[in-house]
Parts: sequence; structure tokens; C-alpha cells
Amino acid sequence: MRACLRDRQLGRNFRHVGDESEFAAAEPLDPRRQAFWDTERWSLLWLEPPEHTRIRKLVAAAFTPRSVESLREPCRELARELLPEGRFDLLRDYAQPYSIAVICRLLGVPTDRARDLLDWSHAMVKMYELDTSEAQAERAAEAAGEFRDYVVALAEERRREPRDDLVTRLVEARVDGERLTDAQLVSTIIVLLNAGHEATVNTLGNGVLALLRHPVQWQRLVNGEVEPAAAVEELIRWDPPLQLFERWVLEDAVELAGQRVPRGAKLALLFGAANRDPRVFVDPDAFDVRRANAGEHIGFGGGIHVCIGASLARIELTTALEALVERAPGLSLAEEPRRNRAFVIWGLEALFVQA
Ligand code: HEM
Repeated sequence: MRACLRDRQLGRNFRHVGDESEFAAAEPLDPRRQAFWDTERWSLLWLEPPEHTRIRKLVAAAFTPRSVESLREPCRELARELLPEGRFDLLRDYAQPYSIAVICRLLGVPTDRARDLLDWSHAMVKMYELDTSEAQAERAAEAAGEFRDYVVALAEERRREPRDDLVTRLVEARVDGERLTDAQLVSTIIVLLNAGHEATVNTLGNGVLALLRHPVQWQRLVNGEVEPAAAVEELIRWDPPLQLFERWVLEDAVELAGQRVPRGAKLALLFGAANRDPRVFVDPDAFDVRRANAGEHIGFGGGIHVCIGASLARIELTTALEALVERAPGLSLAEEPRRNRAFVIWGLEALFVQA
């Protein structure tokens, strides 16, 4: 899996080297969903070098270890402040408002539209699933249009009145002497906002469920035997929030694990399976927060598309677990949870707990 992620003969996109006639598994982009494709056009997730390199460099400049580390204390405060008491849905009432507040703080986006941001994001990510319905695609395009208008207005505001935040830095940034176009700005801000909370929220949901289903493991956190930061790695390994990423084979006769794969083929990389690889993890199906090498999971990907927000995600998840352990040591399941019926973005519909 790691070799595939690093292999430059494979790409997230093929449109820089060929068209749909060669890449037969590609579905033509439905023009009725143009608003969605427009917001994806410059998303880091879909770009390949040299465009990817230019934009990634710019975004990476904002993710300096110092700027991310400076969010630890605000995360700690928010994690405690937003934690409800009694019976609540861990996803809707805690993980979502918390995670959106953190990413908004990083970007300098006001939280007054947090509910809209979440709704737009949830609608848009349905397009990454394997069985997107017409109604979902329509809603995704609508959401993308609304999200675009919001980001364009926000960028305009920061142009008029610059602030010390990431949106202003992106608005003012120059790459190779050129500014980002509006379309590039929109894609970049949207991918940061969406990627910045969807996976974190689902890690928290899947992870807390795993802990509550394995009370011995939860007790190890409560009694201080295991640090939340270490447990976070096992949460991501055991039940990762992102199960599948695709790659296109860009060159002829690529050899993968002893098999020849033709140019134009599409590969499905199954992260959940790689995280249970018995060659890497002893007794891989066991959930064990003391696992020494849990951090070797593939959850944040690898190669040029490796998650740019990984250190922020780790801080966010660690501080949320710290808050839960400290304020709700007796946490229990209040209801049997249901899966969200998505596959790529793997999570729960709701997780009702009792604090
Ligand atoms: C537990 C939480 C998270 C997980 C498991 C996760 C996982 C991933 C993975 C697997 C990829 C690579 C996809 C591929 O190779 O095709 C990725 C890319 C990315 N992630 Fe994350 N992520 C998380 C949190 C975040 C956060 C908090 C942010 C933003 C602040 C973020 C922003 C991004 C961006 C922008 C990319 C695209 C990078 C590129 O293509 O160059 N992620 N993430």
C-alpha cells in the first residue's frame, strides 16, 4: 500500500496525461453537476504535479509545526468547553461543533455559519462514495455552488480588510510570482474545511465506540496507564474514517505486487485492510490501545498526497480524548449506534452516549 501511494506511475487524476478514451473506467463529468466539478478542479486531492506541487507548497507554509502546535491550548479549551453533560450524540453534539470550530479557527473563518459549512460538506462528500444517487449528486452540486459563493465573499472581505489568518495568507499569497485565481482559492479553502473535519469527526465517533465496546481499553485511559495521544493512533488504525482512495495507472505495464497492471486501470486502495496487515501488526484484529507500533498505520496516507492536516488531527483527537477521560470517565453507550451507510467515509449515523 505504501509503495502504491509513493509510486509516481499512479496518480489521483489522469487528466494531465490523457483523456476518458484511454481511461475507460472514468465516468464523464456530468455537466449538470458543474458547480461541484468546479470546486474540485483545484482541490489538492485531485491535482498532480506540477499544479499539485505549487498549491501544496503554499498550503504547507501555513501548516508549520509552530502554527499547528499553537492550536493545542485552544483545542484543549474548546474540547472541554463544548463537551455536553448527560445524554448526547457524540457526533452531532460534540465532535462536529468541536472539529468545525478548530478548522475555522485555523483558517480564520467565522463560526456563525458552522451549520451551513457542515451541511455543505456532508452533501459534497457524498460524491466520493461508490453509489452516489442522482438526488445526492444534485444536492452536492447545489451545496458546492453555495459554498463557492460563501468563500468568494469571504475572500473579498479579507482582500478589503486583511487579518492575521490563513484565508488572508492564501488571498495574498504568490506562487511563482502569481496570485491564486479565485477558482484555486475556492477549491483550496473548501478542501481544507471539508477534509479538516469529516475524517476527524468520524475518527472520534468510530474510536469512542471502539473504546466503549472494549471497556478494559477505556479503563487504561481513565486510570492513566495509556496516554490519549498513544491511543489515538490505535483508534485510527483499528477503525479508520477513510476506507478507500483510488489511483489511476498512468503508465504502461506497471508492476504491482508481482502483477502487471495496464495503463488506464483504476485501483482501489483499501486503507482499512492495510491497517490490519498481519505482517505489520501482531494480532491485527485486536483493539489494543497499548499497541507499540500503532503509529505505523496508513490512516494519513503517504507519498505526495499525504495528509497535510495530520499533526492538527492528532492534536484535535488527543485533546478531545483528554477531555472525555477527564470529564466523563464513566462514559457509556446510551443506544446501539447505526453505521452511516457510506463506505468511503466510514462512520456512524449517530453515537448516543451517557456522560
Ligand atoms: C483523523 C483525521 C484525518 C485523517 C484520517 C486524514 C486522512 C487523509 C488521507 C488518507 C489523505 C490522503 C488521501 C490520498 O492519498 O488520496 C489526506 C489528505 C488530505 N488531508 Fe487529511 N486526514 C485527517 C484530517 C485532516 C485535517 C484535520 C485536515 C486539515 C486541516 C486535513 C487535510 C487534508 C488535505 C488538504 C489533504 C489533501 C492533501 C494532498 O492531496 O496533497 N486532513 N488526509
